[in-house]
Amino acid sequence: MKKILHVISSPRHGESYSIKLGEAIVAKLLLEYPGSTVSTYNLVDVHFPHLEEAHIASFFTPLEARTPAGVEAARHSDEAIRAIREADILVVGAPMYNFNIHSSLKAWLDHIVRSGVTFSYGATGAEGLVTGKKVYLAVATGGVYSSGPMKEYDFVVPYLTWMLSFIGMKDISVVRVEGTAIPELKEGALERAVASIEV
Ligand SMILES: Cc1cc2nc3c(=O)[nH]c(=O)nc-3n(C[C@H](O)[C@H](O)[C@H](O)COP(=O)(O)O)c2cc1C
Repeated sequence: MKKILHVISSPRHGESYSIKLGEAIVAKLLLEYPGSTVSTYNLVDVHFPHLEEAHIASFFTPLEARTPAGVEAARHSDEAIRAIREADILVVGAPMYNFNIHSSLKAWLDHIVRSGVTFSYGATGAEGLVTGKKVYLAVATGGVYSSGPMKEYDFVVPYLTWMLSFIGMKDISVVRVEGTAIPELKEGALERAVASIEV
């Protein structure tokens, strides 16, 4: 039995390929680990906040010195980190918008990458503190980036892989639904992506 956290960052609800692909990954995980629990975290619907001055001030104030306003400012971050810590497996949906991730996913990263909480600096440099997790990235792109001339313009997978590794989540599998904006590739793109899922 596993605790699965499905993070959604597409604003497109039922039309979203990354959401459908993430759900297919979750479905395969449930077959592999019967009785697992699934929590869904839709960053767009909850309007996950962009990082503001009050958040940063709170992050760098020791817990015992935080005012009630400071505690409230860190609430989104604390809850997001707690959800990650509780999960065994994360399925992170990542649509490509303007060659990078959706801003809600960037906002979430800005709240979960916290010095002294999810990473620390030691004698050997930065050390990720969120360990023992398995991560699946469910990436949806209008074009094709897994190979070919556009590969170097994919800032989604390299960035997410680096950031999640930085805080300790190094076991990352990437599943791609590609060509959702290309008529001759769109047909069957999701089915091909689902068939490629390995759990
Ligand atoms: C504002 C916007 C920007 C986009 N930028 C890109 C892009 O830079 N490269 C690309 O391949 N597709 C791009 N697309 C297409 C999306 O990646 C594609 O529709 C994908 O399926 C989105 O994921 P979703 O279906 O989960 O929302 C863009 C779409 C929108 C609406």
